[in-house]
Amino acid sequence: MQQRIEELRKLLHEHNYNYYVLHSPTITDIEFDTLLQELQQLEEQYPEYFDQNSPSQRVGSDIDAQFVQEPHSYPMLSLANSYSKEDITDFDVRVRKLAGNNVIQYTCELKYDGVAVSLQYINGKLQRALTRGDGIQGDNITANVRTIPTVPIQLQGNFPPEIEIRGEIVMPRSKFDQFNIEREKQGEQVFANPRNAAAGSLKLQNSKEVAKRPLEAFMYYIPAHQPTNSHFENLSIARTWGFNIPDVAKKCDTLEQVFAYIDTWDKQRKQLAFDIDGIVIKVDSIQLQQELGFTAKIPRWAIAYKFKAEQARTRLLSVSFQVGRTGAVTPVANLEPVKLAGTIVKRATLHNSDQIEQLDLHTDDYVFIEKGGEIIPKIIRADVTTRNLFAQKIQFITTCPECGSTLTRPIGEATYYCPNQYDCPPQICGRIEHFVSRKAMDIGIAEATIFQLYTEGLIRDVGDLYSLQYQQLISLDRFAEKSVQNLLQSLEKSKHIPYHRVLYALGIRYVGETVAKTLAKAIPSIDALKTASILQLEQIPEIGTKIAESIKQHFKEPYNNIIIEKLRNAGVCLQAQEQTETIKQDILKGASIIISGVFKSYSREHMKELIEQYGGKNVSSISKQTTYMLAGEGIGPAKLEKAMELNIPILTEEDFLNKLGISI
Ligand code: IVH
Repeated sequence: MQQRIEELRKLLHEHNYNYYVLHSPTITDIEFDTLLQELQQLEEQYPEYFDQNSPSQRVGSDIDAQFVQEPHSYPMLSLANSYSKEDITDFDVRVRKLAGNNVIQYTCELKYDGVAVSLQYINGKLQRALTRGDGIQGDNITANVRTIPTVPIQLQGNFPPEIEIRGEIVMPRSKFDQFNIEREKQGEQVFANPRNAAAGSLKLQNSKEVAKRPLEAFMYYIPAHQPTNSHFENLSIARTWGFNIPDVAKKCDTLEQVFAYIDTWDKQRKQLAFDIDGIVIKVDSIQLQQELGFTAKIPRWAIAYKFKAEQARTRLLSVSFQVGRTGAVTPVANLEPVKLAGTIVKRATLHNSDQIEQLDLHTDDYVFIEKGGEIIPKIIRADVTTRNLFAQKIQFITTCPECGSTLTRPIGEATYYCPNQYDCPPQICGRIEHFVSRKAMDIGIAEATIFQLYTEGLIRDVGDLYSLQYQQLISLDRFAEKSVQNLLQSLEKSKHIPYHRVLYALGIRYVGETVAKTLAKAIPSIDALKTASILQLEQIPEIGTKIAESIKQHFKEPYNNIIIEKLRNAGVCLQAQEQTETIKQDILKGASIIISGVFKSYSREHMKELIEQYGGKNVSSISKQTTYMLAGEGIGPAKLEKAMELNIPILTEEDFLNKLGISI
């Protein structure tokens, strides 16, 4: 039976490759499904032959995964950008200077506009997939990447025993449009462009969901153990191993050929099924690449040529004004829908009143818009040649569009604010959103739910969250038993969040995560903070007058003190756990702990904090010096094996919490 399973897996891998990479299937969809079904049945019957690299595993898993950071085998660097032919000429001069008498050939390739990924194969099997991260270490997204049909999970042909390959994951444009239409229909937020959709998809914690996203992977770089001395040849060889590498790369002997390649693709890029944002030019000889080497961030042997951002001209329909958590009012231009760089654009950012002034916008103006790196396009200029004689200058509003209060503009600032902090709905909901966010109280509640609870009159401030009752929630629209239980449990759990995070969650102006930590260390309770003088606050390192005054101002407001009392009554932690600190310190003192997988009681972020609170150190890579491995659910077998190999004790979540004397 094992033999049939292997045979089916091999066959299905080949058919997948023919279908997704070569686009020339040799069997019908029904024949494919029949084979897949046979495999699935056998795998179910004989679970002892489970293989995570089986074609049946493309469907993903329901297990939520938090991504574990792992070091790259080779740094994952980026490229220098260039925007003109002169820049490319300068690059060529630099290369020739360093290359001495060597003949230079360049390989030109498409610059795919997606999310970079590094794939590692051992004995032809996909071992792991990492995001770029900070270039030194990235998130392990193997479970998600395995669901992408153009990523081979089993190599074919004459592949080396170990190989790392890098590429880009994209969402083809037509699939993206369709995907967004579906999202809109479901009332979900749409993505601004295919790149963001690809990035968002890869970050999903449930790989079964990722499997439903129409993602594709293109490979472009082998960082080590290259099969030949030519990058161009290596791409062709990697294609025979099953990688998706478009056959359009070109070897160029002269800069003229490079420029011709750029011009051709600048014109033809709209005909591609996916977005490219430029061309990458690489020295072809691997030996020469090695001689040229890298700077700290980029290779000296390659450069990206970025196409000019596309512009579009459309009509300004109106300007609307949005109010944020801090009361800041942001103008947004509503435009006649226009296609730009593959998406339909209906809105553009305007930042503040100065920008409206600077662009000299008038009603009904035609404007030029451009998409830069940002999600929402910006207005470059108004087309004054077509301006209507009677057009009125666009004026910034003077009252809040949400609550009618008169807006104020602090001296020296370009932003207008709604001063009605405590009664203006978006400000109230915005503060609650901040309070529940992952880095603050980590309470699982969606933005839409916060708005729903607010409009139902159940919450007016963050303190009210803790008074929510089962009966109130279950009677609401869209609240099933499970979601009510989850919310109540999540609120209960948040009562253990350490004081410095509660302080951050309060949303005091200028008190971000770091300032909150500093404050909590120097003044370890909310009551002491409330009564601290400006002078006392200013004496804390890194706390200046602006922060000190903002804290004083916050506690002057009776509204804020009422919230604190509500939090106190609910049992939220309003002081640092000082007395036990010394005992805590000892428990993990000197221990280096690597943490991986998903935990039932707390988020990984919180587990990491516990390690620090109890005197331990979080480490991201495993070595002989590691004291423990803290293993959650879904931890990769390779990691466990490594720990065992190095004789590092493995702690389960229960072992760990018991060790710290925490009972859940
Ligand atoms: S080569 C060490 N080739 O663009 C050099 N990168 O803006 C590795 N990209 O970091 C990169 N298409 O994420 C290379 N054909 C291509 C590419 C490409 C897209 C991405 C990659 C890179 C970024 C730089």
